[in-house]
Amino acid sequence: SKGCKLVGCGSALPNLQVSNDDLTKVMDTSDEWISSRTGIRNRRILSGNETLTDLAVEAANKALQMAKVEPDDVDLLLFCSSTPEHLFGGAPMIQKALGCKENPPAFDIRAACSGFLLGLISASCYIRGGGFKNVLVIGADSISRYVDWMDKRTCVLFGDAAGAILVQACDSEEDGVFSFDLHTDGNGNRHLDVGIKQNETNLANGSVMGFPNTRPSFSDFQMNGSEVFRFAVKAVPQTIEASLAKAGLKLSDMDWLLIHQANQRIIDRVAVELEFPKDKVISNLENYGNTSAASIPLALDEAVRSGRVKKGQTILTAGFGAGLTWASAIVRW
Ligand code: ACO
Repeated sequence: SKGCKLVGCGSALPNLQVSNDDLTKVMDTSDEWISSRTGIRNRRILSGNETLTDLAVEAANKALQMAKVEPDDVDLLLFCSSTPEHLFGGAPMIQKALGCKENPPAFDIRAACSGFLLGLISASCYIRGGGFKNVLVIGADSISRYVDWMDKRTCVLFGDAAGAILVQACDSEEDGVFSFDLHTDGNGNRHLDVGIKQNETNLANGSVMGFPNTRPSFSDFQMNGSEVFRFAVKAVPQTIEASLAKAGLKLSDMDWLLIHQANQRIIDRVAVELEFPKDKVISNLENYGNTSAASIPLALDEAVRSGRVKKGQTILTAGFGAGLTWASAIVRW
């Protein structure tokens, strides 16, 4: 096949809603501080028996239903998450829960808040170059499990969610993912990281043989907010310009701008920088916070189901986050 098209989307959220006012009961913060600096008012957090895997499966099933594609017809599953519930990959359990009897290849893509976009771009490449027909791309994260809930500088920013898009092979060349642009700068890793740390455990035989008798866990979420802010408002317009140039398209050809939902001030600044009309900017982080790899498919799913984004419209999309990683793509819904 020559091209690909986006044929279904879906999303899923945990039940528990935590408002800015709820946070003021346990930490020295305020609705005024959080909403004026970030635009965020509410977030959803996994609780009780809820799992990220369940959210991912729910979002995927909704995307399959919209596309009228059976789980058995999925021939590749990409799970974009930096917080999977299985160290060796979350995708196999999602494949099993969806009941894909043909056992399609299923694996994880881990690139923080850029993860979903890298998955979507990968899906288009697997279709164009690998003969795949129905690629299910899921973005899901539970950053709430890794932030320090005593640290008001970071925990207020995040929420948990899942979103999914089904990408399908088609004969027209332009459809789906028109063009894309990708970047990583490991020098910036220190600005946004959850690193490994060694803990004492009872793996005593290790020390006898000369290696550390420890099993690792992760350190708390580290973020230099102002550095990340500066990086985002510079890198996102640049990568967007690069994707437009590759596609030979202009900003005025775009129906919507949908960038990773980290902070309303970043979204606004990018729109101003690009001189993109405000009423064509998609944003829903007020209700969900930064949901990392879920943010783009979650916002797209809401915009599609509410009738805002219509079939055939063109969306300029960009992701950015830990790594540092950033990417953009021009896609057609
Ligand atoms: N409530 C009340 N006060 C707070 C809070 C809070 N939740 N958080 C910080 N403050 C205080 C600080 O303690 C500080 O007070 P001080 O000056 O007395 O020490 C003051 O507010 C300013 O703190 P800064 O961290 O400098 O605040 P800043 O204006 O930079 O805003 C923010 C912080 C909102 C995080 C901003 O830097 C930002 O949005 N950066 C981008 C972050 C981002 O998008 N990260 C996610 C990337 S996605 C990913 O890949 C995971």
